[in-house]
Amino acid sequence: MRTPIIAGNWKMNKLTADAVALAEGLNAQLSEFSGVEVVVSPVATVLSAVASSLEGSAIEVSGQNCYHAESGAYTGELSPQMLKDAGATWTIIGHSERRQIFGENDALLNEKLKFALASGLKVMFCIGETLEEREGGTMGAVLTRQLVDGLAGLSDADFENVVVAYEPVWAIGTGVVATPQQAEDAHAFSRNVVKENFNATIADGLRIQYGGSVKADNAAELLGQANVDGALVGGAALDAEGFAAIVRAAL
Ligand code: PGA
Repeated sequence: MRTPIIAGNWKMNKLTADAVALAEGLNAQLSEFSGVEVVVSPVATVLSAVASSLEGSAIEVSGQNCYHAESGAYTGELSPQMLKDAGATWTIIGHSERRQIFGENDALLNEKLKFALASGLKVMFCIGETLEEREGGTMGAVLTRQLVDGLAGLSDADFENVVVAYEPVWAIGTGVVATPQQAEDAHAFSRNVVKENFNATIADGLRIQYGGSVKADNAAELLGQANVDGALVGGAALDAEGFAAIVRAAL
């Protein structure tokens, strides 16, 4: 009932020629697929080139971040309208690198999420605990806070355009993937938080992606868990064949 969604977060990688080559490679690998939604999230400077090369394909394009204003004196920032203008229909918000390196907190991320949705973008909203939080026993409290504060004020209709990405920080870019059971437990927990703070219909319909060292050879098992509805892939999304194999694992 929940269509799986596989997204590639290219992070701060690839200049135009390489990014377009990757998009073309994905087009060639994924010319025919159905039953799974596929999104790629290139760096903003190549977004429009990637979107052009994917035009006519079923692969959607996402920003990696955006600010909560349409335009103005916000040096270095990008608005949802600018992402849309460049060809994006999605954006990621709240990636742990934004939270940790750039100090983005739950209140700011909630503003960004609401503004991106109101601007007509769909959003992959990231949550996840650090190793310290997991080992210190505060994981549940952290995920609850990130969900309750991060999603505050969303309407039922807003939720149709939101996907939550559970990305344990200790698994991102480390090669240490969560076990399928760890992923399933965190996803089931998160879905229940949404149920208790919103309602059962929203919780049942909400897609929750797993992210953190997803690769072609571990994707099927992760995606086989009842509450894992997709993947947000970093390193392994930089290679067309590897990413296409992850998409196929979701079929
Ligand atoms: P990774 O990154 O797949 O390289 O661990 C995932 C992410 O940060 O979205």
